[in-house]
Amino acid sequence: DEELVVLGIETSCDDTAAAVVRSNGEILSQVVSSQADLLVRYGGVAPKMAEEAHSLVIDQVVQEALDKAKLTEEDLSAVAVTIGPGLSLCLRVGVRKARKLAGAYALPIIGVHHMEAHALVARLVQSDLQFPFMAFLISGGHNLLVLASDLGHYIQLGTTIDDAIGEAYDKTAKWLGLDMRKSGGPAVEELAREGDEKSIIFKVPMKQHKDCNFSYAGLKTQVRMAIESKNIDAAIHVAAASEQDRKARADIAASFQRVAVLHLEEKCERAIEWAMKIEPSVKHLVVSGGVASNQYVRSRLNKIVEKKGLQLVCPPPSLCSDNGTMIAWAGIEHFRMGRYDPPPPACEPEDAV
Ligand code: KG4
Ligand code: ZN
Repeated sequence: DEELVVLGIETSCDDTAAAVVRSNGEILSQVVSSQADLLVRYGGVAPKMAEEAHSLVIDQVVQEALDKAKLTEEDLSAVAVTIGPGLSLCLRVGVRKARKLAGAYALPIIGVHHMEAHALVARLVQSDLQFPFMAFLISGGHNLLVLASDLGHYIQLGTTIDDAIGEAYDKTAKWLGLDMRKSGGPAVEELAREGDEKSIIFKVPMKQHKDCNFSYAGLKTQVRMAIESKNIDAAIHVAAASEQDRKARADIAASFQRVAVLHLEEKCERAIEWAMKIEPSVKHLVVSGGVASNQYVRSRLNKIVEKKGLQLVCPPPSLCSDNGTMIAWAGIEHFRMGRYDPPPPACEPEDAV
């Protein structure tokens, strides 16, 4: 098995990321440039703004990844790049960069599916993780339950019919006047520790649906109504709120988190039952995506997974949120199976992609 060194490029959402990874699982470098400060996420969908931000930093991010790995383009075996899903304007920035580099250095290119990469990176973390396994991706844009039967063979067991859980965390954070410089999830998790999770009884979504799908739009509305009824002013930052006001916010954060995660637990349990019928040899459930770095989420899901006789695999936070390592790693897995494109022409016109 030839040793590969692959550069991974990720620009599907609001982070510009690159990494260099070896086929033995060694991460030589990982660079992430976040657009959080531009408030892209909270200013609504602003693809044009996100595209410009990616374009501004892409060369620098890739160069830094190579420098940190103490390598040059000539040392690479291939370039892997996210080709979807995501904002097409943003994806194109990464694809253009990858093709330019691959063209100039005659490197094969591997187009990677963003969600597949989230799942596969667990096999970098835990080298004995064999197919079939289950993957549960929970992020700002996705709630996805899949059965990974084999490389490239995935059965979707459930998805969200409206918002993803991370979006609900982010809105809750915004309405509670939490710190918005970072994403909202960690701020809600932190404040929830001070709250009483049973103080407000929110309705668990989709209880009557005997499937594995998710919905967070209704819970978002319930939270917004609770916040309005307690006269919480999001313009006043939680750090400046009175003790009583802070407690009210913490109670909402904790109550929201309990029900948001209960929804995950219920659907996850059913999905495991479904998956075991299709692939009885399933032994692991991988939890990934930004929300998987939440400790409460991890411990609640771990209970369900253990109850069903499976093992939870949770990559470290730096590999759970969007990153270049997972793209490089998915590229390595596909490359090994002979799935890649030949190098593009050395001088491709800029608008060819
Ligand atoms: O995977 P990710 O970095 O990007 C995509 O959405 O694809 O996930 C970001 C999401 C955001 O909604 C963020 O609020 C959420 O993950 N998140 C968390 C935590 N850390 C990040 N949600 C809850 N608790 C956390 N500790
Ligand atoms: Zn993602």
